[in-house]
Amino acid sequence: MLISFEGIDGAGKSTIMDMVGEKLREEFGYNIVTTKEPQGIFREIVLDADNKYNISELSRFFLYQADRALHTEDVIEPNLAKENTIILSDRGPMSTLAYQQITTGLDFEVMEEVISVANKGIYPHCYVFFDVSLETSASRLSDEKDYFDKMEKDFFERLIHNYNNLIQDFDDNREAEVIYINANKDIDFVFESCYNSILKYISANNN
Ligand code: TYD
Repeated sequence: MLISFEGIDGAGKSTIMDMVGEKLREEFGYNIVTTKEPQGIFREIVLDADNKYNISELSRFFLYQADRALHTEDVIEPNLAKENTIILSDRGPMSTLAYQQITTGLDFEVMEEVISVANKGIYPHCYVFFDVSLETSASRLSDEKDYFDKMEKDFFERLIHNYNNLIQDFDDNREAEVIYINANKDIDFVFESCYNSILKYISANNN
């Protein structure tokens, strides 16, 4: 089973994802694999705060897909095949749709075609969406800002708009489950609601 965590930067999903994984492992003995996109050399290039490799936004879009292809082959495919295993991924294809629609102007349909090659058609079974206000997310960002953390307010407003539409569309039109989390609340509340919702989903769907 593959569950991806989505939301704007500073939503707190990485911290909560690790906490949820830890508790599922402890309480139920699941083999929990936590992972993230992007990683390694691709991460270094696409998220460099000063864009020192001088890459264009179209090129950045493809680098995210190159990272995704590697991630799919190295992490997703081998672990999906294992019993009693749940993969928790910090971001996935929905991030490309939400972010790169703004930066490249590409249509969702065009991006989806490329994504489906990169991820070999393996999509998350469940999306956990962290809904957070701009104020809360800004207060949670660390001082060390990467490429996207440094974007203007207008960028994040468009991002929230894209995420809201995507979440609605995925909920209505796809087989995948969408879990909605109010991530403005304090960490204990967010953790509890996230853990309970994921546990419910796993219990109903993990055969
Ligand atoms: P990361 O530090 O992992 O995210 P967070 O700040 O949420 O902890 O950085 C990943 C960044 O890459 C984030 O700003 C979103 C962006 N991104 C894309 O633009 N497209 C993609 O396809 C993915 C996976 C991420």
